[in-house]
Amino acid sequence: MNMAHSFGHFDDAAREYVVTEPLPPQPWINYLGNTRLSAFISQQAGGLAWHIEPQQRRLTRYHWLPAPQDRPGFYVYVRDRSTGELWNPHFAPTCQPLDHYECRHGLGYTQFIGERGGIRVSVRYFIPPGDDVMVWDVTVENTGSVVQSLTLASYVEFGILEFMREMFWCYLKNHIGFTYDRSENWIKYDYHAFEAPFTPAIFMSCTRPVDGFECSREAFCGRGGSLERPGLALGGSELPGGGHGCGTLGVNLELTPAGRERFAYIIGVADNWEKAKTVKGKFTDSEAVDRSFADLEKYWGRKTRVFQVDSGNPDFDRMVNTWAPLNCQITLERTRDLSTDHIGVDGMRFRDTMQDALAVANFDPDFARDRIRLILASQSCDGSGNFAFYPYAPKLKVNLEPLRCDNTVWPIMTIANLVNETGDLTFFEERIPFRDGGDATVYEHVRLGLELIWKRRGPHGLPTLFDADWNDGLAVFRDPGAESVMLGMQLVYAAKLFRDYADRMERTADVAWCDRVAGELTGILNSDAVWDGQWYRRLLLSNGQYVGTAARPEGQIYLEPQAWAVMSGVGDFEQRGLTAMDAVRERLNTSRGLMICAPPYTGIPTPADPLVGNAPGTGENGSIFCHANTWAVIAECLLGRGDRAGEYFRKLLPSVAAEEVGQEHWGREPYVFTSTVIGPAQGKDFGRAGISWLTGTASWAYIAATQYILGIRLTLEGLQMCPCLPSDWHDVNVVRRFRGQEYTINLGGRQVLMKRNPL
Ligand code: GLC
Repeated sequence: MNMAHSFGHFDDAAREYVVTEPLPPQPWINYLGNTRLSAFISQQAGGLAWHIEPQQRRLTRYHWLPAPQDRPGFYVYVRDRSTGELWNPHFAPTCQPLDHYECRHGLGYTQFIGERGGIRVSVRYFIPPGDDVMVWDVTVENTGSVVQSLTLASYVEFGILEFMREMFWCYLKNHIGFTYDRSENWIKYDYHAFEAPFTPAIFMSCTRPVDGFECSREAFCGRGGSLERPGLALGGSELPGGGHGCGTLGVNLELTPAGRERFAYIIGVADNWEKAKTVKGKFTDSEAVDRSFADLEKYWGRKTRVFQVDSGNPDFDRMVNTWAPLNCQITLERTRDLSTDHIGVDGMRFRDTMQDALAVANFDPDFARDRIRLILASQSCDGSGNFAFYPYAPKLKVNLEPLRCDNTVWPIMTIANLVNETGDLTFFEERIPFRDGGDATVYEHVRLGLELIWKRRGPHGLPTLFDADWNDGLAVFRDPGAESVMLGMQLVYAAKLFRDYADRMERTADVAWCDRVAGELTGILNSDAVWDGQWYRRLLLSNGQYVGTAARPEGQIYLEPQAWAVMSGVGDFEQRGLTAMDAVRERLNTSRGLMICAPPYTGIPTPADPLVGNAPGTGENGSIFCHANTWAVIAECLLGRGDRAGEYFRKLLPSVAAEEVGQEHWGREPYVFTSTVIGPAQGKDFGRAGISWLTGTASWAYIAATQYILGIRLTLEGLQMCPCLPSDWHDVNVVRRFRGQEYTINLGGRQVLMKRNPL
């Protein structure tokens, strides 16, 4: 492991991560967006933009698979007209060495500062909250002692909006057109594909008059050229009949020493050209750019001000205060569809998106509520959820398979957190359609979903597995009739939560039903079929065997049922929850976090069989599965063991992990959560990060930190303080904005002091 090499650091005062070397092991990206227009951008300005939905409204191209990785993107080229030399302030794609390079990823923006030969170029990219434009705010300064004659040129590659159709049939490129319109000073991308669900107006413009342009990728590169060494003739090519379009607008500058120029490139999208003109008209000068950037700062300020902590632990504090809200918001926007690991075809997921809305419900309840509406509208009137759905892509159908048995256990958790945040129970009464006809209240959607799980019980009385429960990896057992211990515990948890609202709404039959479900399941879950002696088993297979038992050579113990035993109260029986979490510590703990199961499988179902899933130590087969680790943090808090909770949470912090194993080894962004960390079974790769950004870890980690370690829980009546701090944390201060009040809370020592001020 390379402990020394650093590719960047946090600037906590600015709430930025500063990448100081352009080539970390993988692209380190940030997301820009306003929930309609979105983009991701890496530390070398690689990335892509899309409008609302990335399968049918993808604006620009990005290639996941060919090397070099992370191409193309949102490029600014700088040409020294006296020498012809060409470079980029964000390093790629020319990869010319820079005298100074920095990339600052912040809340909703990314700024580059690149210097070479006495020229300093800053480009700040952002998408303001109110307008569907991506702004490239460019400042050029002459820091040397001679006059500089420069040309700056933008490059962005426009793909066909319907991404999958472009993959199938390249000739569709004759259904698009790219022209430069001098009177508007913009490149127009006309999209008129046959049977397209959307035909928006897309443009690239510049806040100052341009001295040259290209609309054709081929003309930009020159015959045989490439983005690394483009001809960049700026010869004014257009593609009215289609082709591989690009957005290149060239600006000539003459800069005397200390001279400075500022202008902006704008990519915009609107329903039609009239509206596009209006949007473009708002961005004519730097003052307009500054105003919209100030709006962006306010937008993020509102979200992050809801919860601010000063615990004296910078890694914990910066995550809770800044990076987790960003990570949670982006994960809810994007669910699992677009990142450097996701190519953009996955849509929204019933259970994943519902969990992603959990944390956002605290700092942006309106957005969380909108997403919950979308998810519930994809539910069927028999109560069942689905694997994936595409509310904004009319041509795409709901995916029912693979069939996850846990889909509908999650809504009550997120909705409870939402209504406790707002204090407004009326959301339960709102009517939401089913995807297959009819409608029902939110309350009924939730109840139907829980009843369905209850109906689908197996011979022992626990919910059946179908393809898998939360743990996708269980699909390797190919036993739809197996019974899930985890889902049984989750149903207990959900029934107890739901009961409280049913009671308040005077639905006595439902209250009785919840009591029955929780009571019966708790009994079954503590029976000999489930309790293995030191921990809870994972699956009861239909052939009478168990998964997650000391009697098997592999997969003896799983993390999830031990944590959910505590969370659901099932493990209160004979303090089994405590015993089980001790077994977790003894058998699953590593220097990097808790493995999801151990020992990992070398064959399925026995070592003699071939392995048909994740390699040992990866994914659901014995990696440190961060999402499930957050539940262990919660469980330890509920058991009152703050030191363990603190230790497990600290291991989840990407800044800590990257520091301890070295940024090179960790590989991924040190400022956002990852789904997994490679487990010890992979030898030298132990401790490498898995998928970053889009993971259920983000939402649950936020809840674990704010509501369990710091213990500022929500009830309909108001805030409730149940901190469970590590013993070496003293004098922890929190500012919590809640229902129009600002609470200043001191969690120092043994007592909690709270001051309340109206906002
Ligand atoms: C991934 C999936 C999620 C699943 C989890 C555990 O995070 O997106 O749906 O629950 O893995 O298998």
